[in-house]
Amino acid sequence: MELSFVFYVLLYLYAVSAAGVPVGVERNDSPVIGVLAQEVYNPSPGKNAYIAASYIKYLESAGARVVPIMINRSEEEYTRLFKSINGILLPGGGASIVSSGYAKAAGLFYRLALEANSKGDYFPVWGTCLGFEQLTLLISEELLLSHTNTSGVALPLDFTKDSKDSRMFKDFPEDLMTSLAKEPLTENSHQWSVTTESFNGSEKLRKFFRVLSTNTDGQKEFVSTVEAYDFPIYGTQWHPEKNAFEWTHPYIPHTPSAIKATFYMAHFFVNEARKSLHSFTSEEEEQEALIYNYSPIFTGKKSSFEQIYYFD
Ligand SMILES: *[C@@H]1O[C@H](CO)[C@@H](O)[C@H](O)[C@H]1NC(C)=O
Ligand SMILES: *[C@@H]1O[C@H](CO)[C@@H](O)[C@H](O)[C@H]1NC(C)=O
Ligand SMILES: *[C@@H]1O[C@H](CO)[C@@H](O)[C@H](O)[C@H]1NC(C)=O
Repeated sequence: MELSFVFYVLLYLYAVSAAGVPVGVERNDSPVIGVLAQEVYNPSPGKNAYIAASYIKYLESAGARVVPIMINRSEEEYTRLFKSINGILLPGGGASIVSSGYAKAAGLFYRLALEANSKGDYFPVWGTCLGFEQLTLLISEELLLSHTNTSGVALPLDFTKDSKDSRMFKDFPEDLMTSLAKEPLTENSHQWSVTTESFNGSEKLRKFFRVLSTNTDGQKEFVSTVEAYDFPIYGTQWHPEKNAFEWTHPYIPHTPSAIKATFYMAHFFVNEARKSLHSFTSEEEEQEALIYNYSPIFTGKKSSFEQIYYFD
C-alpha cells in the first residue's frame, strides 16, 4: 500500500515534470544565463554596445551557457527572453544607472524577477559593481552613492556575522573563507559606493538585503557583498570574475586562493540558475540566442578587459 503510493507519487511527479511544470524537485543541469550589454563610451559602426568576455568565461567555468542581452530592445523581446533564461547577471562598467539602455533593461528584468520569484518561479539576479549599484537604486528608489577611493585596489572582505549562515557563503570551504577575510582577493574598480551609513539610512534597502561584507577605503565604510532576504538576488561591489580572467592591471590578484574565490562565486550563482526551469521554446531559438554566435576581440593592450564582445 505504502510502496504503491510512493510509486504513484513518483509517477505523478514524472508526468508533471515531463510536461514542463515546475514541481520543486527538479534541477536544471543546462542553465542558460543572460548577461546584460551596455553602451560603449565612444560608439562606432558595429560597436555600440559591449560585454567584457570575463563575465562570460566566469559563468561558463561553472557549467552555464550565456546569452547576451542587448540594450534598447522592446519590452516584448525582453519578456520573451526572461521566460527562456535561468538567471541574469548585470555586469560592471560605466553606463548610467538612471538613463542608459543598460538601466532600462536592468529595471525591466528586475521587476520581472520580483514578480516571478513571488509566484514561486525561481529566477536569480546578480549585480556586480555597476550592477550592484543599479540594484540598490532599483530597490531603494534613491541615488545613495558616495565617492570612495576604490578605483583599483584588491581588498580582504570584512565579513559580517550574517555571512556564516548566508546562502552565498555557507558552503564555501573554511580555508577559502579565511583567505577571503585575510588576503586581498576581491578586486575593486569603482569610484562610487553605498556607504554602510547610506545603506542603513534606507529602510527599503535594509529590509531587502542582508549585508554579508563591508569594506573601507580608509575613510568611508561601504557595503561590499549582499544577498536578498526573500529573493535569489545578490550583489557584490567587487569583481569575482576578474581574478581568473583579467590581467590588465597589476592589482588584480591571481594567487591560488584568488582563483578559487572566482570559481566558488561562479559555482554559487550557476547553482542558483540550476533551480530555474525556464527554457527556450525550441533548440533553434536557443542556439540563435547563445553568445557562441559572437566572437570576442583582444583588447587588453588598450582597455581594462583582455577580451570584449561588441554588438551593433
Ligand atoms: C540606447 O538608448 C539609450 C537611452 O535611450 C541611448 O543613450 C543609447 O545611445 C542607445 N544605444 C544604442 C546602442 O542603441
Ligand atoms: C587611495 O588609495 C590608495 C591605495 O589604494 C592610496 O595609495 C592613496 O593614497 C589613496 N588616496 C587618497 C586620496 O586617500
Ligand atoms: C548600521 O546598522 C547596524 C545595525 O542595524 C549597526 O550595527 C551599524 O553600526 C550601523 N552602521 C552605521 C554606519 O550606521
